[in-house]
Amino acid sequence: MGRVVVVSGGGTGIGRAVAERFARQGDRVTVLGRRAEVLREAARDIDGAHPVRAVAVDLSAPEEVERVLGDLPEHVDVLVNNAGGRGGSPQDGGLKGVAEQWRRVFDGNVLPAVLLTEALLPRLARPGGRVVTIGSVAALRGNGAYGAAKAALMAWNHTLAQQLGPHGATANVVLPGFVAGTGFFGAPAGEEELARRRSQTLVGRVGEPQDIAAAVAFLASPEAGYITGEFLNSNGGAVLGR
Ligand SMILES: NC(=O)c1ccc[n+]([C@@H]2O[C@H](COP(=O)([O-])OP(=O)(O)OC[C@H]3O[C@@H](n4cnc5c(N)ncnc54)[C@H](OP(=O)(O)O)[C@@H]3O)[C@@H](O)[C@H]2O)c1
Repeated sequence: MGRVVVVSGGGTGIGRAVAERFARQGDRVTVLGRRAEVLREAARDIDGAHPVRAVAVDLSAPEEVERVLGDLPEHVDVLVNNAGGRGGSPQDGGLKGVAEQWRRVFDGNVLPAVLLTEALLPRLARPGGRVVTIGSVAALRGNGAYGAAKAALMAWNHTLAQQLGPHGATANVVLPGFVAGTGFFGAPAGEEELARRRSQTLVGRVGEPQDIAAAVAFLASPEAGYITGEFLNSNGGAVLGR
C-alpha cells in the first residue's frame, strides 16, 4: 500500500509487532521511543520494502516532541499511539506519594498520545488518515491510576474522532487484554502466571503482540473508514463486550 506510518513505542512488544506488520506490507514506518539503542536495533531487524526510521524521544515531554518534529514524516497516513506503561507503585507514603504516582502514570500514558497526536495532526492525511491508540482492558476493569489513564485516552479519542470525522479521517482505540512477551511487566511471566491469565480467557490462550497488531491493522485500513470514535477489545474473552 505504501502508506506512511508512525508508531510510538515501536521498538518493543506490541509497538514492534505493529511496526513489523506495516513494514511487511510495504509501508514506510517510523518508530519512536526513549531508548535510542533499542529503537535502532528494532529498525535494523524489521524486514520491509523500506528501511524503518528510528527517532529517540521522550513523548511525555512537550519540548522533546517539538525537538524531533523535524525528524518525523511531513505527511502521515497512520499514527499509532502505543507508547505507555504501568508507571509503578507509589514510592513515598502519604498523599504526596499518591499524587506523584498518578502524575507519573498520566504523564506516561496520556501525554505521549496527546502530545504526539497534536504535533502530527497538521500532517495527517485528510481524507484517509487513521489514528489508532492503544488503551487497555484496565480501563474497563479498574487498576487504579493506570486504568484511569487508559480510560482518559478513551474520552480524549471521542474529541479526536469529532475533530477528524468531517475531514474523512478516523480515531479509534484498541484495548488489549494480557499480552505476553513485551516489556510491560518487566520480567517475562512465569508458567503459573501464564496459566492464570490463560484461564481468565474464553479462548484458552494468552495474547501475543501480533494479536494486537492485527486489530490495529484493521482499524488503520482504508476499509475501516466508517468506524470512528470506537473501542476494539482484544482480550480473548477475558472481558466481554462493553
Ligand atoms: N502487555 C500487556 O499486557 C498490555 C495490556 C494492555 C495494554 N498494554 C499497552 O500496550 C502498549 C505497549 O505496551 P507493551 O506491552 O508492548 O510494553 P513495552 O514493551 O514496555 O512497550 C512500551 C513501549 O513504549 C515506549 N515508551 C514508553 N514510554 C514512552 C515515552 N514517554 N516516550 C516514548 N516512548 C515511550 C517504550 O520504549 P522506551 O522505554 O525505550 O521509551 C516501549 O517501547 C502500552 O500502552 C501498554 O499500556 C499492554
